[in-house]
Amino acid sequence: MSDGLDINEYILVMDGITKIYGNGFIANKNIDLRVKKGEIHALIGENGAGKSTLMKVLFGQEQAEEGRIIFKGEQVHITNPLKALELGIGMVHQHFMLVPSLTVAENMVLGIEPKKRGFFDFNQAVKLTQEISRKYKLPIDPLAKIADLPVGFKQRVEILKILLRGVDILILDEPTAVLTPQETEELFVQLRELRKNGYTIIFISHKLNEVKALCDRVTILRDGRVTGIDDVKNLTEKQISRMMVGRDVMLTIDKDEAKPKEKLLEVKNLHYVDQHGKHVVKNVSFTVRKGEILGIAGIEGNGQREMSNLISGLENFQLGEIIYNGTSVVNKSIRELREKNISHISEDRMTFGTVSDATIEENLISDRFYKSEFNKFWLFNNSYIKQHVNQLIEQYNVKCDSKDALMKTLSGGNMQKVVVAREFSLKSDFVIANQPTRGIDVGSSEFIRNKLVELRDEGAAVLLISADLTEIIEVSDSIIVMCEGEVVAYLDNQIHVSEEELGEYMLGLKIQTPQEIGKVMHYE
Ligand SMILES: Nc1ncnc2c1ncn2[C@@H]1O[C@H](COP(=O)(O)OP(=O)(O)O)[C@@H](O)[C@H]1O
Ligand SMILES: [Mg+2]
Repeated sequence: MSDGLDINEYILVMDGITKIYGNGFIANKNIDLRVKKGEIHALIGENGAGKSTLMKVLFGQEQAEEGRIIFKGEQVHITNPLKALELGIGMVHQHFMLVPSLTVAENMVLGIEPKKRGFFDFNQAVKLTQEISRKYKLPIDPLAKIADLPVGFKQRVEILKILLRGVDILILDEPTAVLTPQETEELFVQLRELRKNGYTIIFISHKLNEVKALCDRVTILRDGRVTGIDDVKNLTEKQISRMMVGRDVMLTIDKDEAKPKEKLLEVKNLHYVDQHGKHVVKNVSFTVRKGEILGIAGIEGNGQREMSNLISGLENFQLGEIIYNGTSVVNKSIRELREKNISHISEDRMTFGTVSDATIEENLISDRFYKSEFNKFWLFNNSYIKQHVNQLIEQYNVKCDSKDALMKTLSGGNMQKVVVAREFSLKSDFVIANQPTRGIDVGSSEFIRNKLVELRDEGAAVLLISADLTEIIEVSDSIIVMCEGEVVAYLDNQIHVSEEELGEYMLGLKIQTPQEIGKVMHYE
């Protein structure tokens, strides 16, 4: 440490960390990270910047080629996660590591099971869970089965689990990526409470507003290097995003007023009952016109997903009408719909969006093999495809070794970019974008949102479904809000709507009259 730094000021010093993966990729390049005791330290950067890698090194899941770690004043060698936990470093991963079939209490003590006369002491596990949950004001039912819990509660179990193991530092890898705005707020309250109790937290995110709202200091990464470190209050969102992306990012979208033309999609009295007999879509009606972006706001799980799946043909249609360009399109296959020029960015990219064992190139052109121009070129000239694919990779900033990399080797955000690149390059008349920027960094989110507006300006009708309120408000020309499967509001001239007001509709605290809601049909 050449800068004469006072080790006592920091609970954790990572110094000159370089991590090279087996394939030769350098994910961390001489990274310094300094974390003060009792602070919430943000680690921010675009997808692929190396955040998770650095934290895996700290948690002993990956070994660095170079650098050292000084924890509580002493140099440590963290060879595996158990060692990390022993030292007092715990991590909540992006993908939870709980056993779904077991109860909360059983998960809490996995690996450190309390015993009574040689047997697992379930009552003691319940008691330990209750104690720690009370102590840190993180309420949980010890008897609930993990599989039955909403995502926010699963995360809470993960946090409690590492607290029970007596850590000093909690690493949270993109904890809000899976949460609703309300759950995120709740998490922030809990994290502040933990900070008050003396815990140190490393909070990974790529959302600027979260870092601003929650964190004390921030380390910014770009392409495996540190590009900035400072007190959060000293930096504007713009400055942080510039350090993340390496250029100025437009934080608000610059767009002209929509000029809606004829109706392209009409949904009338749509109903859907899921396999558990739950009535998840209730009498939903709306219209999307060419040249407009209709946003659908709602807390996840209020029927938006099923509705978009019905429209895009992923879900079997039950009752109602879906009219596209004047004709009914219920129960059409995806391919038939594609022939009608419909693009769909599915929420669940792992299941519907991509083939994980195929290459990026194959994924980018998988839907258009059957088109003659590609067939022709495929047979006679591979270079056309190659050029097309490389152009998309560059435009959408997909971080990968090459177009031949397997889809499954990409990070979630980069997979999403591949899906979006494929769908947007179809030049469709109608675009269904379901959570299009979830898990995606600011630079690429900006690109995708602008692209939606561009498609609109070129005359496409766009249906945007998003749990990100800022995105809904910024991108949409008009908005419908769904709550418990129903449309509870239609905001036509939504320029003046605030996130708070939208939130009230989303929670069902506020509801419009059927007349107001009915305006979405644009009956003359
Ligand atoms: N096991 C691995 N082998 C090879 N490359 C990897 C591996 N894990 C991650 N990478 C690459 O390292 C880079 C950084 O990844 P990661 O640390 O996950 O980024 P972040 O968490 O900031 O999104 C990415 O380009 C990613 O593709
Ligand atoms: Mg990551």
